[in-house]
Formats: sequence, structure tokens, C-alpha cells
Amino acid sequence: MRANHLQMGPTFKDKVMDNVRTFNRKHKYLRFLGTFYAIVALILYRIALHFCSNAKRYTCLASILFFFISISSFTYPEAIGLNVSFVIDFTEDEDTEYFIADSLEEVLPESEAELAQISPVDKDKILSEEDTNVSEDQELKEGFLLAGDIENLEDSSDSEYVDNEEKQNEKFDKDDWKIILVNKQHPIPDNYEFPLGEIDDTMKCDERVLSPLKALLKAAAADGINLAICSPYRDSARQENLFSRKINNYLEAGLSYMEAYNASSQAVTVPGASEHQIGLAFDIVCGTYYNLDEGFGDTAEGKWLADNSYKYGFVVRYLKGKENITGIEYEPWHFRYVGVDAATIMYNENLCLEEFWDNYLYD
Ligand code: DAL
Ligand code: ZN
Repeated sequence: MRANHLQMGPTFKDKVMDNVRTFNRKHKYLRFLGTFYAIVALILYRIALHFCSNAKRYTCLASILFFFISISSFTYPEAIGLNVSFVIDFTEDEDTEYFIADSLEEVLPESEAELAQISPVDKDKILSEEDTNVSEDQELKEGFLLAGDIENLEDSSDSEYVDNEEKQNEKFDKDDWKIILVNKQHPIPDNYEFPLGEIDDTMKCDERVLSPLKALLKAAAADGINLAICSPYRDSARQENLFSRKINNYLEAGLSYMEAYNASSQAVTVPGASEHQIGLAFDIVCGTYYNLDEGFGDTAEGKWLADNSYKYGFVVRYLKGKENITGIEYEPWHFRYVGVDAATIMYNENLCLEEFWDNYLYD
């Protein structure tokens, strides 16, 4: 055995030690360097040897990891029932953020934003501008309800509206239509039904919200806040249209399908999971700021709504700082009716609807 071993020549370790001995003899004062080199070289050699002898195992592990990373970045929860966050944290990558902000906002006229690019001060002007607007999709046009039109809003006899003096903190019922949780992880139930009421000739919403909506607009007008409602109820075809247009626009802007899908789903809820489809969501705009973007939250109207809408049962549904929970970007213009009790709690505790469910409904 020993003879065979000798015939095989010096091992890697022998070579390293020989080199180190030679080096140390020549450079007595730099011996520590030689020793350090020997230690590092032998450790690396050991590691490499370990990986080589376990190559199959590590390849297998890497494939499994790659598979899970791939599917978790592109998943459709409605289809497979997983709680997957769709939020891309653009702030982590400044280049991505600028790419989205600089190139996409210009080339992506969001349908909602298009609607808001119309002064709500003069309704005739709104409609004529809307008519002449070369919309990418004419069927997406919607009407507006101005504060001045609120007298035309019929009161709903079975309205759920109550003023903010109603007692709070009562136990909430999971089956209460007002607090139904609809998001990407909780699509609209197949059997969900609701009474569709008319806001005006062109717009609809859940009939039970007509009265609180009117109260909200009246209170705003009394405080000198001129609001306009747009994009309340959407049927599923319209939501699908909005979503696929959004994806197509991102694709045209150069994103991959996965990136386009993820980016789109942060701004427009995937079809079948939008609160607009159940008539409980309202996009609210004003005449001083024409874009449906974060800036609306800084306008007098946006601030008034954020601070007062809860008194009438409405909340800013997609709050700033809660994007990772809601899966939707901050939308200071998108209001959801949840009823005064829930809205008051959500406002006071700065909760989004998902958190409200966690705190007050899940056991
Ligand atoms: N813009 C909101 C998230 C929706 O599409 O429902
Ligand atoms: Zn909306």
C-alpha cells in the first residue's frame, strides 16, 4: 500500500506544504504569510473536494430552489389558491423605479387616469372633453357625478347609512356585505349577489351605498370641497378589459410578461377580485388635480376625504405603507364603503381591510 501511495506522487497538500516550507526558508520574517497561505489553500481545497464529491446532490438542491423561486414570482392565486404577494418593491432597485416612473407613466395612459384628466367643475365640459378624448377604448368611458348633482341622487329606503354617533366596537359579522374582503387572495364569491342601484344615467353602485354616498358628497360640498365620482361599479368584462390593456401597455413598453403581469396587478386588481365589480368601490376625483396618482392625497380634496370619509362609512382602501399587505399601490382616490363602524375603527387605527379582518374577524 505504501509503495503504491508513493508511486502516485505528491498530493495537493504535500505540494502546498513544500511550497510553504521553501517560501518560509527564503523569507524568515514573512513566515506568517506562508502559513496563512497554506491554511487558506487547504480549506478551499477541502471545500472544492466536498462539492465535487456531492455534485449530484447539490445540483438537485439547486434545481428545487430554482423551481420554487420561479413559481413564487408568477402565480395566479385565484387559480391555485395560494396566498402570494404580488408586490414588487420598486424602491429596492432604483433603476427599476426610474424605468417604471419615467418611461411607463408617459406611455401608459391609465384608463382611470384618463377619466380624471377632465375638470369636474363643468360637467358639460367634462362630457365634451370625454367625447373628444381619443380614448384607447371608447367603451371605457364613464360618467361623473358632481357634488352639484347630489340632489338627484335618490335615497335608498333600506339604506345602511348611519351617522357616526352609532355605537362602535360591536362584534362584526363575517357575512356582513359591508365588510366583505375582496382582494387577489379572496376573489368575489361565485354566488355573490347585490342590488345594483343607479347613481345617474351612466354610473351604478351597490344600491345600499347610494345614501351614504350622497351624505359624503353633501358634507364635502358644505365644507367647500368639490368632488366628482368616477368609475364606481364595473362589470367583469370591463375589469378584464382594463387589466389586459394594462398588461399590453407594459408589454409594449418592453417588460416581460411576468413583469407586466406583476406591475399591472398592483394598479388594477385581477379580474374577479376587484371591489369595483361588487359596487362598493368609488374612484373620487376633483377639479384641482387631474391625475389619479399619489399626488391626489396631497390636495385639499384628497386630505378632506382621507380625514372625513370614514364618518360616512368610506375608507381609503389602499393605504400608503400597506402595499405589501393589500398588494396594491397607494391609491388615495379609491374609496371603499365598509360602513361607519368598521370605517371608524380602520381610520382610528390606520388599518387596511386585510388588517381589520385579522384584528376583528379572524379568531
Ligand atoms: N384600481 C383598483 C385596485 C381596482 O382595479 O380594483
Ligand atoms: Zn378604484
